Amino acid sequence: MQFSAPLKSNSKKIMLLGSGELGKEVAIEAQRLGLEVIAVDRYQNAPAHHVAHRSYVVDMQDKNALLEIIYREKPDYILPEIEAISIDALFAAEDKGYNVIPNASAVSKTMNRKNIRTFAAEVLGLKTGPYEFVTTEDGLKSAAERMGFPCVIKPVMSSSGHGQSVAKSADDIAASWEIAKEARGDASELIVEAFVDFDYEITMLTARNGKETVFCEPIGHEQRDGDYVFSWQPMQMSDVAKQKSQEMAKAITDGLGGRGLFGVELFIKGDEVYFSEVSPRPHDTGMVTLITQSQSEFALHLRAVLGLPLGFTFYGDGASAAFKSEVHNYAPVVAVDDSLFTDNSFVRVFSKPEAHKGRRLAVALVFDEVEKALEQSRELITKIKDC
Ligand SMILES: Nc1ncnc2c1ncn2[C@@H]1O[C@H](COP(=O)(O)OP(=O)(O)OP(=O)(O)O)[C@@H](O)[C@H]1O
Ligand SMILES: [Mg+2]
Repeated sequence: MQFSAPLKSNSKKIMLLGSGELGKEVAIEAQRLGLEVIAVDRYQNAPAHHVAHRSYVVDMQDKNALLEIIYREKPDYILPEIEAISIDALFAAEDKGYNVIPNASAVSKTMNRKNIRTFAAEVLGLKTGPYEFVTTEDGLKSAAERMGFPCVIKPVMSSSGHGQSVAKSADDIAASWEIAKEARGDASELIVEAFVDFDYEITMLTARNGKETVFCEPIGHEQRDGDYVFSWQPMQMSDVAKQKSQEMAKAITDGLGGRGLFGVELFIKGDEVYFSEVSPRPHDTGMVTLITQSQSEFALHLRAVLGLPLGFTFYGDGASAAFKSEVHNYAPVVAVDDSLFTDNSFVRVFSKPEAHKGRRLAVALVFDEVEKALEQSRELITKIKDC
């Protein structure tokens, strides 16, 4: 047999910058291929730390601290897993010849709503809802009037819904301005978006390895307070909407470039598709692919990073439900009822060392027709408790 470019797995080292539950699955896939895994995060015993060869705890916003670890470990691939990270460190590492996934510029664009929105809408010409950027409360008021109510207000840099709000009328603007200060990141600039009255929203997982681009079946999801609670695959779409979604996902991922898997978030109304945002890494709503695909989004991400072939099979419908903590808890114990261990259900516990209200600690996965899988997964997360 002739191998054009065999994977010399033992000689490859990946460094995860951010070691949450998504990074943990990437680490497991890397371990399976015999790669060396270095996991970095701001706190000890982060999920991916448990499955790495070595782990580091460091302030992820500290450029010099991050570079020190990078220069010490000399990874072949640096995989940013979170947004709150020193982008200067990534540019500096890239300048020295390190391979940042997908590339430092793409990470920089996607971590800031202003950068990615203007790139998608104004450079690539992708369809989005109307939007404006503001830096003052008065600016917010007048932009909201122009967008109309309801409108969505978000800090340009934040994550998981922090600092976001929907203003239903001009009376809500003062409250929205205050909420925006809760941003995990930079609240000095806000995006004001017209509310897109979509029929449904999807994540189009898109992987590129430098030779080909592949799409996963569209993932439907339900968000609460800017955070996902349920996801399912496939989302039933018209052929036109699916085609447009793939074209948009191709355009934005080609525009960002580099290798890896991306989660392209789109709003769908009838046959119209609106670009919302994109993660240059596996997406939380994509955890459902752990059971629905022969190669999960995590496996595809790693294959794309390594430049390996991206073939995979869609096994069939499934759903995921996120289990979130209800209390603050040091060293939480996640209790999983026997009913989660059926022939078509799975549970993944992330082993986070600390819980707080709303923090995701586990996910329930069900392999069945979407409707049934969703119903069962809704039921199953009520059978998980943290104490
Ligand atoms: N303009 C909008 N119109 C209607 N719904 C919106 C709009 N913007 C956001 N939403 C809803 O809020 C959810 C979260 O918004 P968004 O994806 O922009 O932020 P996020 O996912 O919290 O950000 P991050 O990826 O940084 O965690 C969306 O998935 C969608 O359900
Ligand atoms: Mg989002």
